[in-house]
Amino acid sequence: MRTVLIAALGLTCAMPALAVDAPSKPVRLGLCAACHGETGMAQIPGAPNLAGQRLDYLRKALRDYRDGSRDVPLMRAAIGPLSDADLDQLARWYSAQSLSPQALTQP
Ligand code: HEC
Repeated sequence: MRTVLIAALGLTCAMPALAVDAPSKPVRLGLCAACHGETGMAQIPGAPNLAGQRLDYLRKALRDYRDGSRDVPLMRAAIGPLSDADLDQLARWYSAQSLSPQALTQP
């Protein structure tokens, strides 16, 4: 019985895509993680935290960088020609992350 339970737990962990609310990890997350972190906590000075930011705001910011109406060459280069679907997935991912209180107290 115990073995079955452990096996079942293992299966649940191995299938995060089945979780209802949490979006699955975007394929393109690697393009962003060096600066914004996988969980949306900034990794370099000058990069903003994205965790927990509003979905509509993130979506708009990404489109504005892509079309140049928000003119930041760094972010434009990072986004490159990503599709709306890719940007949407990234926005969903970052808005679903929780802010880490520890990071908030850093200068
Ligand atoms: C080389 C570092 C770097 C990479 C890589 C990078 N970013 Fe950024 N990102 C920045 C910086 C710096 C800013 C602040 C730009 C500004 O002043 O508007 C920013 C701004 C943003 C913002 C706007 C945040 C706000 O509060 O307005 C979003 C959203 C964002 N990045 C998402 C992404 C996503 C998604 C990716 C991957 C496709 C990515 N970034 C890749 C450095 C980076």
